[in-house]
Amino acid sequence: MDEKQHIGRLFDRIAPTYDGLNHGLSLNIDRIWRRKTVQAMPVAKHVLDVAIGTADLAIEMLHRSKTEKVTGLDLSAEMMAIGREKCVRRKLAVDFVQGNAQQMPFADNMFDGVTCAFGCRNFSDLDAGLREMYRVLKPGAQVTILEFSYPTNPLVRALYDIYFTRALPFIGRVVSRDKTAYTYLNKSVKSFCWGEAFLHHLNDAGFHDEHFTPLTFGIATIYTAIK
Ligand SMILES: C[S@@+](CC[C@H](N)C(=O)[O-])C[C@H]1O[C@@H](n2cnc3c(N)ncnc32)[C@H](O)[C@@H]1O
Repeated sequence: MDEKQHIGRLFDRIAPTYDGLNHGLSLNIDRIWRRKTVQAMPVAKHVLDVAIGTADLAIEMLHRSKTEKVTGLDLSAEMMAIGREKCVRRKLAVDFVQGNAQQMPFADNMFDGVTCAFGCRNFSDLDAGLREMYRVLKPGAQVTILEFSYPTNPLVRALYDIYFTRALPFIGRVVSRDKTAYTYLNKSVKSFCWGEAFLHHLNDAGFHDEHFTPLTFGIATIYTAIK
């Protein structure tokens, strides 16, 4: 099984419990992070949400911004099935496309905005994913990315380490009944680049005016950049 299939299947397996665990494990702070991500976006009519998963960011966008349509891309059919059901229930205009962020099935310069929440650290090739985001964005449009990062305050960092390396994998394993998924999620967060280092990747992909805004002691960060 290649890496792409592995990630898609991992998220297929945890899809039924993903939303509940997300909100529970973050004490609902993830909702605030998504809201702030939408606030960081300029007006964009048609947005591509990369790694849309269960569509929480797309829903937030369609409720709270002037975005009229979202196209969502994801490897996991099961995550998108849950997202689709949530959007149908709310009568929201979201198209779901199964595919790989590192090889997107979209034309150049197609979208008024590109977003990605908690997706980038799962890419086997981050730079390929960012280059694809750049390619499909219209010139002058903004990419807005929300991703886990690492707190800089030593006390917060110590508490975070205990929570992420012990509590989260344990709770995740018990609730999702998946032995490996939440250990993988914890490892993927700890090994991923953040802050200035992430801005370098955006710059290498061709973006300019890159900025980052840490949230909640730096546990998550919003990155923005312009094509
Ligand atoms: C942690 S979830 C985030 C979902 C959603 N954006 C959110 O905010 O809750 C990560 C998602 O990224 C998707 N994903 C991982 N690698 C991908 C890739 N290379 N291409 C497309 N989707 C990918 C997974 O299938 C999963 O649905």
